[in-house]
Amino acid sequence: MRQKIDEAAAVIRQRLGFDPEVAIVLGSGLGGLADRIEQPVYLPYGEIPGFKASTAPGHAGRFVAGMLAGKRVICMQGRLHFYEGHTMQEIAFPVRVLKALGVRALVLTNAAGGVNLDFSVGDLMLIEDHINFMGANPLTGPNDESVGPRFCDMSTAYDPALRALLAQVAAEQGVTLRTGVYLGYMGPSYETPAEIRAFRTLGVDAVGMSTVPEAIAAAHCGLPTVAMSLITNMAAGVENKKLDGDEVIETANRRAKVLESLVTGFVARV
Ligand code: HPA
Repeated sequence: MRQKIDEAAAVIRQRLGFDPEVAIVLGSGLGGLADRIEQPVYLPYGEIPGFKASTAPGHAGRFVAGMLAGKRVICMQGRLHFYEGHTMQEIAFPVRVLKALGVRALVLTNAAGGVNLDFSVGDLMLIEDHINFMGANPLTGPNDESVGPRFCDMSTAYDPALRALLAQVAAEQGVTLRTGVYLGYMGPSYETPAEIRAFRTLGVDAVGMSTVPEAIAAAHCGLPTVAMSLITNMAAGVENKKLDGDEVIETANRRAKVLESLVTGFVARV
């Protein structure tokens, strides 16, 4: 595994011509942050050995790297999802490559359904912790000790210092930032109303189909992570209407600027 990671990192490093400090994964409809990057270098995943292309709507499927808020950043404009048929190991791979590139903080963003009844569409939520309901884990199979330990501690998968910094930046920008637990659901069907009621009793605040595998891979390889959800819709059964992927993208587009400013402010300070 180590050799594949190092090969991919070498290709990216050579194409970028610099070592990125901060990595940002942009969720569904949130790819616009990449447009704020100065002196951008574009690198489609298909040109990197070992990488799989993303097929999900609203996901461009490339790295965009350059300067953001005075820092060298690398953005994943589009991510891989388990529901696309990618294996958990394939989803973990880019995170491991980012660690090998020397990135010292990972910012994960996603679109999510609101399970907490106090939430509203358009809210931002800092992920305090997650529940892995995907039925799979990227760390199954042989373990490479040079990447991380066989049994990986998850107590601080969402780094407390980075979370505090993001909350502080939100307060300074006057942006309301909710805090809560994210449940990772395999998809691609949305949850049933009964599942959402069950998740609520389990202490879940938001539900989505990403982030969990990446956060596990990051914890495993020792890459400090912070994650944020944009509540693009209320989860199934909360409102008397059907869920629809277009609403997810519409809300993401409408609230993208707020999320982008928050992430930019965070990058400036991290
Ligand atoms: N459920 C799962 N994933 C999602 C949702 C949802 O309601 N909204 C955006 N991603």
